Amino acid sequence: MPTPPTQPVSTCDDSLWSALTQPCSLVIFGASGDLTKRKLLPALYNLLLDGLLPPCLVLGLGRKPWSDEDFRQVAREGIEQFSRQPLQPERWEDFQRRLFYMSGKLDDRQTFVQLKKRLEDLETRHHLPGNRIYYLAIPPTAFAAACQGLDYAGLVYPVDDRSPYSRVIVEKPIGRDLQSARELNAIFARVFDESQIYRIDHYLGKETVQNIMVLRFANAIFEPLWNYKYIDHVQITVSEAETVGKRAAYYEETGALRDMVQNHLLQLLCLIATEPPYSLDPDVVRNARMDVLRGLRPIRGKETETMTVRANIAHGVVNGVPVPGYRREEGVRPDSTTETYVALKVFVDNWRWAGVPFYIRTGKALPKRASEIAIQFKEVPQILFNANPHCPLDPNLLLLRIQPEEGMAMRIISKVPGTKAQTHPVEMNFKYGDAFTAPSPEAYERLLLDVMAGDASLFMRRDAVEASWAWITEILEGWARYGTRWLPEYPAGTWGPVEADRLIEMDGRKWRVL
Ligand code: BG6
Repeated sequence: MPTPPTQPVSTCDDSLWSALTQPCSLVIFGASGDLTKRKLLPALYNLLLDGLLPPCLVLGLGRKPWSDEDFRQVAREGIEQFSRQPLQPERWEDFQRRLFYMSGKLDDRQTFVQLKKRLEDLETRHHLPGNRIYYLAIPPTAFAAACQGLDYAGLVYPVDDRSPYSRVIVEKPIGRDLQSARELNAIFARVFDESQIYRIDHYLGKETVQNIMVLRFANAIFEPLWNYKYIDHVQITVSEAETVGKRAAYYEETGALRDMVQNHLLQLLCLIATEPPYSLDPDVVRNARMDVLRGLRPIRGKETETMTVRANIAHGVVNGVPVPGYRREEGVRPDSTTETYVALKVFVDNWRWAGVPFYIRTGKALPKRASEIAIQFKEVPQILFNANPHCPLDPNLLLLRIQPEEGMAMRIISKVPGTKAQTHPVEMNFKYGDAFTAPSPEAYERLLLDVMAGDASLFMRRDAVEASWAWITEILEGWARYGTRWLPEYPAGTWGPVEADRLIEMDGRKWRVL
């Protein structure tokens, strides 16, 4: 059992952040939407409770004709329902004083003229220096109007040391293929410098995901083994018990490959596969991740049939609740071929990973919510304890548990106590909750703070977004060309279709049961 740390480990980080996070205004476009209520406002509130929020105000902009009071009420409900730490009446007072709202349409330039005026008034009243962060929690179809409006009203400062900063945070999806991603990036580039753009992949903000770099590069024991000589294969699983529910309209146009693999799963793969960056400078770290994307072996044309499996939900039961088949969901076409599950066999063609398959899978309506990365090491030679070909030893396994359990585990072979030379696999377990008393912050807390501090390490750079879309687009084209009228199905509450089992079993391996 690891010993709890005697002093807070993040002390130096916290002081660094407070030095870098200058007072600012955060403008949320899409303020009457779900993301603002469920994630953004609770995240800001938790930063306040933890003493990390710099002096700032939050101005929500949305279509609903709300007052400041209405917005504060929604914020209160959001915090009561979704905050990591409970609402504390006296801290709430402090928080709600910072919240403001204005309604407006993004395709009306006057909205931005009014926004500028409101911001300037509020900033003067609150003695804020004019640093501004624009959070685009809006659909991609509205990105252009938001950028043009900000530009028109002179709300974006050039990048230089003398003026206050302007930064923009962009939520996914950034495109639905390479072409559309390029178009969206071009829209941002017309108004913002790349250094002002923070493209969110909220998986990179998860505590356990950040720990991948620490595990690899702050410990001596893993890195020497972290290559094709010792690793047999890697499995990355992001399993969700939820179905598409109210998001059917969005999901129909998206599917699991675009929704989860293009961003979250590929980023996890990058963190596992990256070379050690020579410093923690944001661009150095992002260059290292970028090299992994460049090394992905393309999956083209007919290869999509052997390297990928897609499927959708058939009627079943998840956690005791009946779930209809995907094509029966409201808003879904009865002959839909949008995948709710995808599994892929991926190779990174570089020296470190030559020949090592990365099996990745994600799906909705699976038996439980669980994300993990399993690194399976090669077998020991078939001599001594592994000499009996009828009962080979289980190879070592390193598990990085991302959610909901946060931690890691290592499977090793041990001797069973007694007089016989009998062996058995045992698990060494490390749980974040046991080792550290403080609960992990939510991804959005860390990410918002990083934008305030101007640290883009955990955000997607333009070239990375386009590289991952380039790779995904080839798969989409292969699917379109060699597609079937019906996708395989898996009953809700099971671990995916038999086709996905075959994908890994034909290599003599098995999916882990989580
Ligand atoms: C989002 C996807 O990006 O990530 C959703 O659009 C998915 O479909 C969600 O449910 C999963 O995030 P998390 O943090 O709950 O694993």
